[in-house]
Amino acid sequence: MLLQDNVVIVTGAGGGLGKGIAEVCHREAAKVVIADIRGPAAISVAKSLGDRALGLGCDVRSDDELAALVAATVKHFGRLDGLVNNAGVNCVKPALDTTSADWQQVLSIDLRASFVLSQIACRQMLAQTPIGGSIVNIATVHTHGALPASVAYDAAKWGMIGMTKSMAIELAPQGIRINAVSPGLVATQIWEDVKAAAPDPRQCEDYFYANIPIGRPIEPAEIGEVVAFLLSDRSRAMVGANVFADGGMSSQLLSQAPFEFKPIGGN
Ligand SMILES: NC(=O)c1ccc[n+]([C@@H]2O[C@H](COP(=O)([O-])OP(=O)(O)OC[C@H]3O[C@@H](n4cnc5c(N)ncnc54)[C@H](O)[C@@H]3O)[C@@H](O)[C@H]2O)c1
Repeated sequence: MLLQDNVVIVTGAGGGLGKGIAEVCHREAAKVVIADIRGPAAISVAKSLGDRALGLGCDVRSDDELAALVAATVKHFGRLDGLVNNAGVNCVKPALDTTSADWQQVLSIDLRASFVLSQIACRQMLAQTPIGGSIVNIATVHTHGALPASVAYDAAKWGMIGMTKSMAIELAPQGIRINAVSPGLVATQIWEDVKAAAPDPRQCEDYFYANIPIGRPIEPAEIGEVVAFLLSDRSRAMVGANVFADGGMSSQLLSQAPFEFKPIGGN
């Protein structure tokens, strides 16, 4: 088991990607804290996992709630070995239509909260015996190249990569490893929202799938496998990395229109 007896917090784990990450960590024998602004959803995910799982309501925009999250984790499970900063919101708007309130909302959840919670987690990881831990920040394939109408999201996630590298090199000598995972398109509510906002959802789906070399979105559990590895000691040489788990999206130079052909030859 990759995470035997490790205590891991996953934010935004009441659904979507976070739920998949929490499930894989739990399967790998971790004690998992599922935190989400939707408290009942967090509790329901914890119940579905059974033993070694605790569901807590937590709005990551509140510093007090972040401190309470770590305190409750340590009270319940005795220590903290892993943190996954996964809670995030998207914002699809042209740059000139993006308001300062949009900017504030996205940056506060996708970037600021990850920094504040990482600080609190690191202080706990340095105070406990044995010392140390591992943090994984969930960024996005947008940290390879931007998408139009994503200025606030892209700024937050590029900021998250800068934060990951900066904190990683400072804290590695003290036994805390920090890395990022950049997923491509994952089949969650965010993807449903993107399709719903398209003039033709089916065409939108065809277009995106044609631009993912594996031809499909990633499943939350597939990101969970990468995160569990990064949380575990097996990745002990990795510090400050941004790992792309994107089905090949960031390796493809040109985008493709959906593949169309007329039959040639045959009988
Ligand atoms: N879905 C994708 O294609 C994709 C791709 C790359 C990266 N990501 C990243 O993965 C992460 C999870 O996204 P998802 O696709 O699962 O989205 P989602 O909307 O399905 O889940 C996000 C979760 O975060 C919670 N949340 C929102 N605001 C919160 C707050 N203030 N405090 C605590 N929890 C809050 C929500 O309740 C929800 O459970 C995000 O950081 C997102 O940027 C998603």
